Amino acid sequence: MNVAILISGSGSNMLSLIDDMTGPHPGRVRLVLSNTPKAAGISKAVARGITAKVVDYQTYKPNISAFEQALQNQLEAHKIDLICLAGFMHILGSNFIASWKGRILNIHPSLLPKYKGLDTHQRAIDAGDYIAGCTVHEVVTELDSGRILAQGYVNILPDEDALSLAARVLVQEHLLYPKVVREFIDNLLNKISQ
Ligand code: GAR
Repeated sequence: MNVAILISGSGSNMLSLIDDMTGPHPGRVRLVLSNTPKAAGISKAVARGITAKVVDYQTYKPNISAFEQALQNQLEAHKIDLICLAGFMHILGSNFIASWKGRILNIHPSLLPKYKGLDTHQRAIDAGDYIAGCTVHEVVTELDSGRILAQGYVNILPDEDALSLAARVLVQEHLLYPKVVREFIDNLLNKISQ
């Protein structure tokens, strides 16, 4: 199964997926797409031998449908079956998401349904939570709200700040996302073969 990873930043989750999808894995990363040329993940993907393209939102803004059509063109050109958002900081429109229904996943740095959107770690600390974590979920039009596939947990330490919590949650993200994607692809292939 051909996988595309959409990024906007450092691409550490992207690398954990690329590195897992080797050998006897049912998926292969065929394409990395970034919505900004500034994403550090682009060169990391290229260093792994993965095709990486920039579809720069700034050059399409405010024409969202042209931006999403450009994404779609890349996805079709690379015969992509499954999209994994990995630190992709752009909200996709309902038409795009509808056309990928059941084939688009995201990892979010909170225990959804808590703390949708940004600033998740500080919000968990401010709320006095004892546990934080990350969630892999299907993407639907409503932000960070699709079916939850799995979560990873991290204890919030006394006097912890958002930076240190983010770093410890990220370690869990790197373990969780590849595991869930592998299972998700296995399930999709099982359904197709039935
Ligand atoms: C990760 O913590 C990811 O969960 C989060 O951004 C970070 C990106 O790290 N994603 C979101 O907040 C999406 N709304 P990475 O680029 O190193 O994978």
